[in-house]
Amino acid sequence: MPNQNTEKTFSIVKPNAMKKNCLGDILSMFEANGLKIAAAKISLISTSKCEEFYAEHKARPFFPELVKFMTSGPVLLLCLSGENAVLKNREIMGATDPKKAAPGTIRFKFGDNVGENAVHGSDSLNSAERELSLFFEKSEICNL
Ligand code: CMP
Repeated sequence: MPNQNTEKTFSIVKPNAMKKNCLGDILSMFEANGLKIAAAKISLISTSKCEEFYAEHKARPFFPELVKFMTSGPVLLLCLSGENAVLKNREIMGATDPKKAAPGTIRFKFGDNVGENAVHGSDSLNSAERELSLFFEKSEICNL
């Protein structure tokens, strides 16, 4: 049974990491740090869904490039579950810019640049709920 501190967060393995054939490595890093895979699907994200997902960045100069990249190929959509999952996932991912990410983090290992930074992870519980609901039905997420 999940305990009271169990959280669910949302993660995306981005198209550049998918091309590196390193899904096993990335999932192992989540699992080795105590997170469980509560839902997973490989999918293409549509432009309209991507624009909705990244709506808070709409005014940023990199927005068109970000949407183009995120819709350029398959991604792995994930729900990660575990104690303090939101913060833990952000620690496992590392800093947004792979050049600033700590050694051993996913972005350090598999990120190419700030745009193609291998993974996305929710920045708060509220974001996690919003993002999970965009990509998963409640019935698709296991209570691990
Ligand atoms: P992500 O965690 O998916 O959330 C928003 C994304 O915008 C972020 O990862 C980066 O990939 C991207 N991003 C942030 N800053 C920049 C930037 N300066 N140039 C290009 N992309 C960026």
